[in-house]
Amino acid sequence: MSAVLTVALDGPAGTGKSTVSRGLARAMGLRYLNTGAMYRIVTLAVLRAGVDLADEQRVAEVADGVDLAVGYNPDEDLAFLAGEDVSQEIRGDEVTGAVSAVSAVPAVRARLVQLQRQLAAEDGGVVVEGRDIGTVVLPDADVKIFLTASAEVRARRRNAQNIANGIGDAYEAVLADVKRRDHLDSTRAVSPLRPAEDAVIVDTSDMNEAEVIAHLQQLVQQRAGVSR
Ligand code: DC
Repeated sequence: MSAVLTVALDGPAGTGKSTVSRGLARAMGLRYLNTGAMYRIVTLAVLRAGVDLADEQRVAEVADGVDLAVGYNPDEDLAFLAGEDVSQEIRGDEVTGAVSAVSAVPAVRARLVQLQRQLAAEDGGVVVEGRDIGTVVLPDADVKIFLTASAEVRARRRNAQNIANGIGDAYEAVLADVKRRDHLDSTRAVSPLRPAEDAVIVDTSDMNEAEVIAHLQQLVQQRAGVSR
């Protein structure tokens, strides 16, 4: 076991992964590292630079020079690009539509994985949320969790969020997008989305977020032998 408690939490979008990771970090007094936000910050930098997403070399150059920072506080989930707070902008449609392409570039992943390892090793236990944390970033994590849920359940959750945010009701389109992103994320050559062999797989289709958090907290306590 490492000096600090490390929890790797992976899985596709729509499993409640972000809310659950933040809730787990909060409940256990751990830091929270959102690696998806890091890919989103690089994507925003690429878009702002006007770089063609298909031009891997230019995308990699932007990633190499990018000045990014993220917060550890699960209640804030802050993201900065060159000191500017971009926490809202990185969740917008433009970045969301481009992030799969940017995160498939090997040089982008190499740079961010290195940074993620450095940040995870800083003082204080940490919940690291992403797609490849248990497989690539922290293969020695104390606890590895992989959240799943059916594509239909994930699309329903996202569609309900869209309706609540006034974006409208478009279940079929949302489902198609969920499947498109799953396919891109699980078939890319570098770090495809898959559970680590020693990950605990938790299907959240029939659980609410509070139930998932309570379940994971128990799991971390058992696996890591800690009682917080
Ligand atoms: O978790 P999210 O939706 O904010 O992630 C944004 C994108 O970044 C998503 O398309 C998958 C990618 N990603 C990745 O490839 N590896 C990670 N460790 C985290 C996110």
